[in-house]
Amino acid sequence: KYNAQAASALREKPLYQDDEYADVDWDNLGFGLTPADYMYVMKCSKDGEFTQGELSRFGNIQLSPSAGAIYEGTKAYRKENGKLHLFRPDHNAVRMQLGAERMLMPSPSVDQFVDAVKQTAFANKRWVPPSGKGSLYIRPLLMGSGPVLGLGPSREYTFIVYASPVGNYFKEGIAALNLYVEEEYVRAAPGGAGGVKSITNYAPVLKALSRAKSRGFSDVLYLDSVKKKYLEEASSCNVFVIKGRTISTPATNGTILEGITRKSVMEIASDQGYEVVEKAVHVDEVMDADEVFCTGTAVGVAPVGTITYQDKRVEYETGDESVCQKLRSVLVGIQTGLIEDTKGWVTCI
Ligand code: COI
Repeated sequence: KYNAQAASALREKPLYQDDEYADVDWDNLGFGLTPADYMYVMKCSKDGEFTQGELSRFGNIQLSPSAGAIYEGTKAYRKENGKLHLFRPDHNAVRMQLGAERMLMPSPSVDQFVDAVKQTAFANKRWVPPSGKGSLYIRPLLMGSGPVLGLGPSREYTFIVYASPVGNYFKEGIAALNLYVEEEYVRAAPGGAGGVKSITNYAPVLKALSRAKSRGFSDVLYLDSVKKKYLEEASSCNVFVIKGRTISTPATNGTILEGITRKSVMEIASDQGYEVVEKAVHVDEVMDADEVFCTGTAVGVAPVGTITYQDKRVEYETGDESVCQKLRSVLVGIQTGLIEDTKGWVTCI
């Protein structure tokens, strides 16, 4: 809360009383950062209130590594024999490089990235859940950490990798999700950065997601920003639609994330003889599908039970005999070492 008394006391008796002017070449001011002495810092409490802030010397601030920038997500799994492994971390490295290139940031090489992920997983091996109980979610992130006032790339970047044990992403566990098709808010536009796994990809969804959750939905499905008729992705994951033996998923054209789970599931489905199509998926096709499911590193492969679009709610096939469940069990089998990895997707730590 604004503390008028403290502010007026400060005006009368400043913390500092020095020269009339700071030591600056006033005739040659550009838009570079020349930090003034003090900055004001006020934090928001957990209940959403800004309480009393304070002045402090201008300087670096402490930031949790889990405050994101460009970030990745990969997982370490424990096999039944206790050995640990990673799932396709080199693909996360390449995706970070592509995202960094779009955001004009330098990025670690694939070898540096994978080595950092392996070191982090190994150093935290006691946090990898027992086989079948979850995984160690590993989050590599890249942030501009240098000072900048104008619009331009940072002069310094920091790459961090941290880890946290995780179970199911959705509170539904592995039960089917109820999705809501959002028509007011869009998450990305052509030419924008919707295909980049940066925090800019997630911040725009928070309002729609929070509204849908308050109405009992698990997540939101977004439509394209131009025609508002074609499926993009959910807030946290990619989406697939099944009709007969054809499995369709929105094509990656810069507005949706190129999920590594998405890519892996497409390959598994092709191996099993399904026709896998990347295309513009019309919302009417979604409402007419046999099955719908979502994929993502955090989400895994999650069946969708219902979708609500305008005033219509459609139910889909789910359960042990569903295509989604068959694809999921192959993917999870490879990830957890129950199925032999003939594809070179698994990297031992
Ligand atoms: C992931 O799947 O790894 C993500 O980063 C999604 C995020 C919403 C947790």
